[in-house]
Amino acid sequence: MSSDRAAWLRQEIERHNRLYHQHDQPEISDSEFDALLSELKALEDADPTLRTPDSPTLRIGSAPKEGFEQHQHAAPMLSLDNAFGEDELKAFDTKIKRFLDSEDEIEYEVELKFDGLSLSMTYEDGLLTIGTTRGDGETGEVVTENVRTIFDIPLRFQGDSTGPIEVRGEAVMFKDVFAELNAKRAAADEQVFANPRNAAAGGIRQLDSRLAAERRLSFFAYGIGGDPSQLAETQFGLLEWLESLGFRKREDATICQGIDEVYQRVQEIENQRADLPFGIDGCVIKVNSVALQAQLGYTAKGPRWATAYKFAAEQAFTTLNEISWQVGRTGVVTPVAELEPVHVGGVTISRATLHNIEELERKGVRVGDTVIVQRAGDVIPEVVGPVLDKRPPDSKPPQPPARCPACETELVTVEGQVALRCPNSRICPDQIQTRLEHFVSRKAMDIDGLGEKQIERFLEDGLIQDIPSIYRLKEHEETLLEMERMGEQSVANLLAAIEESKTQPLDRLIFGLGIRHIGERTAADLAREFGSLDGLAHASEDELNDVPDIGPIVAGSICEWFDEDENQALVADLRESEINPSVVEKVAEGGRFDGMVVVFTGKLERFGRSEAEKMVVENGGKASGSVSKKTTLLVAGPGAGSKLKKAEELGVEVMTEDQFLASYPEVLG
Ligand code: IVH
Repeated sequence: MSSDRAAWLRQEIERHNRLYHQHDQPEISDSEFDALLSELKALEDADPTLRTPDSPTLRIGSAPKEGFEQHQHAAPMLSLDNAFGEDELKAFDTKIKRFLDSEDEIEYEVELKFDGLSLSMTYEDGLLTIGTTRGDGETGEVVTENVRTIFDIPLRFQGDSTGPIEVRGEAVMFKDVFAELNAKRAAADEQVFANPRNAAAGGIRQLDSRLAAERRLSFFAYGIGGDPSQLAETQFGLLEWLESLGFRKREDATICQGIDEVYQRVQEIENQRADLPFGIDGCVIKVNSVALQAQLGYTAKGPRWATAYKFAAEQAFTTLNEISWQVGRTGVVTPVAELEPVHVGGVTISRATLHNIEELERKGVRVGDTVIVQRAGDVIPEVVGPVLDKRPPDSKPPQPPARCPACETELVTVEGQVALRCPNSRICPDQIQTRLEHFVSRKAMDIDGLGEKQIERFLEDGLIQDIPSIYRLKEHEETLLEMERMGEQSVANLLAAIEESKTQPLDRLIFGLGIRHIGERTAADLAREFGSLDGLAHASEDELNDVPDIGPIVAGSICEWFDEDENQALVADLRESEINPSVVEKVAEGGRFDGMVVVFTGKLERFGRSEAEKMVVENGGKASGSVSKKTTLLVAGPGAGSKLKKAEELGVEVMTEDQFLASYPEVLG
């Protein structure tokens, strides 16, 4: 009978949906899955009475609605009190103990506070019948069709269940889905979303549920409406019960004895925040015992038994006061947002790079705009975009400068690149300043006591003009001692630090020269390959091209740099100042990896990547981060992806970790 077949298909498809979306463990291929879904759809099209409200065919969405109906929640959707910092968290604990008239440590359950949109789903005898937004807490909007498109939300509970029940939780958009969505919107010249929360909320409020389906939202259940005492004894148990019905497993929930443990846990979560695949804005701390929750009860705002521990906001609004143009050490001119200082992500931000003209245009910001700024984790602050309804009426799109803001030289654009560039590298004061800053920086020559301010002062006073002149500063000791805020000790320290930097290894010197496209890793490769600055200076483009990991762009950039008279003079000048380090530990001949270029990829389970790379280098080989035709061996751990594919395409030898260990047991030391 086709109704039996349809019922079987519904169950089977939902089982595969869970395996795929929640457990990451598909049992069948995408095409086998599509075949099941198409068969069900065909049965339903032939006989629409077979299209039940829990049919997985509804997950792809249906034709648009006129508007949303209202629905009164059976139990109101309340909100939570907030606690900021340790003191407020402890005050929450004290209040609970006072209310319970008890000195005993409280058992808490700590969860993530998902940064999305709260939803309530009514299930009747296990069947999802209504999905709503929170609305004003009493009444929400009916968004059932959209809710059905979220794979984490079971259309029917697994196992038996009777009566009506409201499941509560948060719909979120994962960060990778968000990035993909925004990239697509940007490519189509559509306004990008400020954050995943807005994108999720917009998805739930689509009148056309097919568009909601495209947002690929996820869902975490965190409770039910009303009294849970018949279902579980603890909040943790309630989450386990929800999981048994088919909701996503809540790996984040932990039980803590007493508030001190809670505080430790919330700090741990805050440290992991940036690495989570979805956004959170804090933790929710709940008294674990359902019986104690009942004793504590509710205030008008929300439960006395729970609080939200909020993290610093990662986004804030502020005014864009100015767009300034900054010249970097390679002459690239970049727009910088000068902002009204604002506190976000735990720091005060007053400037943020706007990267380049293309990015500036894509963001569409104008001077005077109210803008959203963002700083997540350790990530550099960025301007997300303008708030268009707050735009001043007379504002104009920013104009890129025609001349260098530092030296007035006419700017050039390089074919095929978005960057504006000041070609006057020799005398452009900003380029000189940033070049020197880079040379003395921690990862380059690491000269302590010579920072941005000192360089600016010394340049202004004519004490230095270029890199070699740093090493002649000692000839100006008298003048230095006469300068304001330069005591005897600080002058002595500075000159000692400069002298000491002469012994820095070659890779730091190469990196410090600021040649375009030469990062720390490439500098180290070059140092190892050529052994001295002169060796590098005399390398031909072909020889450079032969170095693993170095392609034509980098090779070209190195040759161009050494071809310039000014840079040749610089190298000679450095040599005169006895800054000519060589790589002493030149690779031993006859090593096990002589002439080999090895790449490690995937998850390495039996040894560490850096140990293995070091071992390869110490034994005469090269460790590289990418696969090219110069690669001689790829060691692929589980999860290896594009590098493995490329190695196979290029016919590079591939080994598993075990095979590698069998051939080179010395990797384990
Ligand atoms: S429990 C009575 N647990 O935070 C309210 N809420 O102000 C009980 N939220 O919009 C809510 N993650 O949607 C709870 N793990 C979590 C949560 C969570 C996010 C949201 C909730 C509401 C707001 C509470």
